[in-house]
Amino acid sequence: MRLDKFLADCGLGTRTEIKKLIKSGSIRVTGHDSLRPELKIDESKDEVFAFGERIIYKKHIYLIMNKPQGFVSATWDKKDRVVLELVPEEYLHFEPFPVGRLDIDTEGLLILTDDGDLAHRLLSPKKHVPKTYFARLESPAKTEYIDKFKKGVTLDDGYKTKPATLEILNENEINLTISEGKFHQVKRMFESVGNKVEYLKRIKMNNLELDENLELGQCRELTEEEFNALTEGV
Ligand code: URA
Repeated sequence: MRLDKFLADCGLGTRTEIKKLIKSGSIRVTGHDSLRPELKIDESKDEVFAFGERIIYKKHIYLIMNKPQGFVSATWDKKDRVVLELVPEEYLHFEPFPVGRLDIDTEGLLILTDDGDLAHRLLSPKKHVPKTYFARLESPAKTEYIDKFKKGVTLDDGYKTKPATLEILNENEINLTISEGKFHQVKRMFESVGNKVEYLKRIKMNNLELDENLELGQCRELTEEEFNALTEGV
């Protein structure tokens, strides 16, 4: 890979800005005395430094966000605020996008990445990636819902849902695990049994749990352990 592409991919600026950085001597590559933008480097072996600090090449970015209400799961919207506004500036050059959608009034675990292949696999209906939601209901949760959701319920458009696991936490609060992602699925599943979701938060995707220390609106890179939990079997 060319040195200027490496540095651009790492977010050090435009090609012109990078040319200037190289010329000014702010960049160092071990084993190379004179640097040119077109110098071919091996991103997995060569050690590159900018302003004395080692730069590790990343092909993709994987972010976890605790999505707040009031933001749509999109990169751009003509009316509403979008989750991308909450992504720290340093990650924007990767052009991350949300993996799937949470409704504007849903909170919780949202993954953003520029890795289209992984996003596709996580969302593929063939993969059955489980997603767990915490919900507060308008009326008390009935134990009969457990069996109904396990067998599948019919939504307002006639669609029969795949088996889902319901855990009743207390009178009005539940955790529901589904392995598909139809439009407003959790809300519509509760409507189908005559109840209503008042508050919804995604707390788990595959084996990755929402970090409770991540405040609403905060976004950071996944740790290696979290990445493995998210992608296990996917
Ligand atoms: N189900 C819903 O109804 N809304 C969401 O945001 C996610 C799942």
